Amino acid sequence: VKRWALRSIFARARLGLGVSPLSERWGFDRGTPLHRHYIRRFLEENASDVRGSCLEFNDSLYTEQIGGHRVIERHVIHVDRTNPRATIVADLTKPNEVGSDRFDCIICTHVLHVVFDLRAIARELHRILRPGGVLLVAVPQLSMAGPEFDELWRFTSLGLRRLLEEPFGRGQVEARGYGNALVAAAEIRGLVAEELTEREISAQDPRFAIEACARAVKR
Ligand SMILES: C[S@@+](CC[C@H](N)C(=O)[O-])C[C@H]1O[C@@H](n2cnc3c(N)ncnc32)[C@H](O)[C@@H]1O
Repeated sequence: VKRWALRSIFARARLGLGVSPLSERWGFDRGTPLHRHYIRRFLEENASDVRGSCLEFNDSLYTEQIGGHRVIERHVIHVDRTNPRATIVADLTKPNEVGSDRFDCIICTHVLHVVFDLRAIARELHRILRPGGVLLVAVPQLSMAGPEFDELWRFTSLGLRRLLEEPFGRGQVEARGYGNALVAAAEIRGLVAEELTEREISAQDPRFAIEACARAVKR
């Protein structure tokens, strides 16, 4: 067998055969999705920001895991009344009852890609943070778009930074992407973090980031 044929066989064996991915659920059914591995890493890198009065969307998973004892007050926001874990029900693209200067930290993971009016929610996230408070955002850059979740957008770290700089101001936002070409292919094929080496996952090539993350501080 020619060398190129062998290479092709190995590459296919690694990323799966056929045109369909190995997972129809971003890898959740197979292990730790690669993008969740990066979200966790991003939040751990900024763990000291998760403190005081915290707000998270949908549930308080990361507030609990990352914030630990630093967290004094934990809130969960949901856009409508369907979520029993929600302590705050509000649509942050419309006038709402959430007080200004309210939170020390907002963990906003996998929210912005389902919100149509990005500028409106960016303004609101800024308004409800206390001065000195920190917004931690993670959004997909490259992944399956699940039709049942009304996914509207994908982001680059540059687009995310520009979006958040409008309310937070220049110099107040740091954004970066996580991933590389192998991880991007693996994420699309439904492979999970357990199937790659730490070295492969840690290699960074922003051109092929799968997750865009940003830390924004309110002046
Ligand atoms: C897919 S969940 C993701 C949250 C979860 N923390 C995660 O990491 O996957 C999306 C969340 O965004 C919220 N959301 C969507 N549109 C919103 C809006 N206009 N205002 C406030 N929250 C919104 C939904 O209520 C939901 O809790």
